[in-house]
Amino acid sequence: MAKIPEIRLRDGVRAMPAVGMGTADMPFAPASTKPAILHAIELGYRHFDTATLYETEQPLGEAIAEALRIGLISSRSELFITSKLWCDSAHPQLVVPALQKSLRNLQVDYIDLYLIHMPMSSRQGTCRFPISREDALPLDIKSVWEAMEDCLKLGLTNLIGVSNFSPCLIDKLLLTAKVPPFVNQVEMHPAWQQVKLREYCKEKGIHVTAYSPIGGYNGPLLKNQLMDSDVLNDIAKARGKTFAQICLRWVHQQGVSLVVKSFNKERLKENLQFLDWELSEEECRKISQIPQRKNFHLESILPGEEKLCFNIAEFEFY
Ligand SMILES: NC(=O)c1ccc[n+]([C@@H]2O[C@H](COP(=O)([O-])OP(=O)(O)OC[C@H]3O[C@@H](n4cnc5c(N)ncnc54)[C@H](OP(=O)(O)O)[C@@H]3O)[C@@H](O)[C@H]2O)c1
Repeated sequence: MAKIPEIRLRDGVRAMPAVGMGTADMPFAPASTKPAILHAIELGYRHFDTATLYETEQPLGEAIAEALRIGLISSRSELFITSKLWCDSAHPQLVVPALQKSLRNLQVDYIDLYLIHMPMSSRQGTCRFPISREDALPLDIKSVWEAMEDCLKLGLTNLIGVSNFSPCLIDKLLLTAKVPPFVNQVEMHPAWQQVKLREYCKEKGIHVTAYSPIGGYNGPLLKNQLMDSDVLNDIAKARGKTFAQICLRWVHQQGVSLVVKSFNKERLKENLQFLDWELSEEECRKISQIPQRKNFHLESILPGEEKLCFNIAEFEFY
């Protein structure tokens, strides 16, 4: 298996693995979570993407403790752990306690990266998905970001960042931030290429991590439409690769890092086998013409018809 490369962040000192294992499943945190994480560590995954919302901090913490006990890794510092602040704790006084609780779940003293999960807030004690419109609140970006900076100062996390933030929202954040976000984690795959957002983030020194790099969940609750793409399947067939490997290789060639989820042993392995070959310019040109359609819409986490208390246009990632 090719070794997973690291991508340097803007300070030129810190780095994150180019590939990470996602842990969000539907429904959240099945019993297969911990064994899948242990297997991933065995295969060489070193970045694990969790979140309070996914309920996978605890199984991830148990898997890390076991990996240390059985010698799969010799130190926690060999891992890169990302977690995320859910909307109900996106209130200035709740941010540090939320991360402290995540650390207890994870059985670690610090994480590597803490992200604001969504650019919105919700009523305290409503850690659920979707968020009901009665619970949704606008995010006080200035004071919540100050609290994220406190998490850094306290050594609870090495890096701070955002997720699902559009350029317009990052502009707002940068007006008052002392430490700009290191990372913006967003949906990105061949059918949602994020060209403008990536250009914007590059200009600001913000590294992009792609989530749903093979198009997101596929299972009994929802069908992954990207898997039916003729362009991707034709390239996969011609190259003797899988559809997923074509997606992952394309994302990787854009210079972003990615987090891909599988709890299946074979697919965990398959999802690392894209690091030692390249897509040609012609293959990339074909992929760049795939019709664009994102999976994740703010409307999907806020069902209902009532008017939102903030400007939905700010959430568009173009
Ligand atoms: N920041 C955010 O708002 C946000 C949003 C969404 C996701 N994320 C993070 O990003 C991670 C990855 O995104 P995602 O889970 O949405 O989507 P994804 O990684 O693109 O796709 C995961 C789905 O594809 C299946 N799969 C995995 N490898 C496969 C392969 N080689 N061939 C065929 N099917 C395969 C998985 O099922 P099996 O497990 O059965 O293999 C699962 O159903 C999440 O787990 C989460 O950690 C973050």
